[in-house]
Amino acid sequence: MKPPHTRREFLSRSAAAVLSSKLFPGIESASAKTHSGNAVASSGAAPRRIIIDTDPGVDDAMAIFLALRSPELKVEAITAVSGNVPLDLTLPNALRLAEIAGRTDIPITGGASVPLVRRLITAKYVHGSNGLGGVDFPEPSLKPVAETATQLISRLVRANPGGITIVAIGPLTNIGTLLRSDPEIARLIPQIVIMGGSLSGGNITPAAEFNLYVDPEAARIVFDSGIPLTMVGLDVTEKVLLREEHIVMLERVQNPVSQAAGKIMRATLNRAHRGIDATVIAMHDPLTVASLIDPQLLKLQDYYVEVETEGEFTAGMTVGYAHAPVRPSAPRANANPPQPDPDSSFHPNAKVAVGVDPDRFFNLLMSRLTS
Ligand code: RIB
Ligand code: CA
Repeated sequence: MKPPHTRREFLSRSAAAVLSSKLFPGIESASAKTHSGNAVASSGAAPRRIIIDTDPGVDDAMAIFLALRSPELKVEAITAVSGNVPLDLTLPNALRLAEIAGRTDIPITGGASVPLVRRLITAKYVHGSNGLGGVDFPEPSLKPVAETATQLISRLVRANPGGITIVAIGPLTNIGTLLRSDPEIARLIPQIVIMGGSLSGGNITPAAEFNLYVDPEAARIVFDSGIPLTMVGLDVTEKVLLREEHIVMLERVQNPVSQAAGKIMRATLNRAHRGIDATVIAMHDPLTVASLIDPQLLKLQDYYVEVETEGEFTAGMTVGYAHAPVRPSAPRANANPPQPDPDSSFHPNAKVAVGVDPDRFFNLLMSRLTS
């Protein structure tokens, strides 16, 4: 049976199914499996081509360094978005990071400066006023390319249909904007790996994780797109907290990436010690990138994920259904009666990370940043 194509169809079907007291046969929730996306490059295989959409951001910095130091990945572009700090900081930060890593060959540009329909809420309290922990780095000499983020992503994806994975480690405004303006491009994107969401509570509100909190409407476009998604949420990223020993390792190695990473994370750890939530040094974004390098890092499970956009206190919340029925909230008495839904099967839209191997992750992260 075809999955519902539109939100309205989905909601009317689900509500009808419930109202008609149709009992959906228990769908065996997909057994947790390791990352089973496209074959990740292993030794000798061609590198996985990726575009990183990012809001650097201290953990974004670690993620970008990891990606640029990993032969399993080929970074085709880096696009900046507003999030942790405004775009007028995230874009120059992305340029600085590529320059520090000696990768001035990669096209970098900026995208959305504000969310689709909401005011921008930043996380300066976590990432420092400049987005890199407050650490002063020289102005980048590298310049952004002339294209906007959506133009650059669209050009690269259309030139390489099915060949480029999008790694989204900031609010999804750029990706949502691209899909809204050019829905057809969805079929040319083999996978989007998202740092975002949570099935176990939020980090900026009790309900929502920051990236989806900033732009729930953009996130909903992405989760409704039909593109194969991997959601790396707080359920696993809050289990990989950088420690003092890691920062000492970074500080001891005399290479530009390790030194820069050490400075950024030392400043961030100091901030954490000054009482900000300890998960401020969670390696959210690096774990997301690492999952493409080593598929064994994460255990994934199929979910149907809905993004809350109407909640007064829950906007950005990811509601994960592990099996059918996918019930929306009870319809209001004045709502039209929903149409009956003959389809009782389960249509997951994301592989959600439900387990992580922290030691394996930190071995990978530290070996790449200090090599
Ligand atoms: O909630 C964590 C996410 O929000 C990470 O991507 C971090 O960089 C912030 O953007
Ligand atoms: Ca980020």
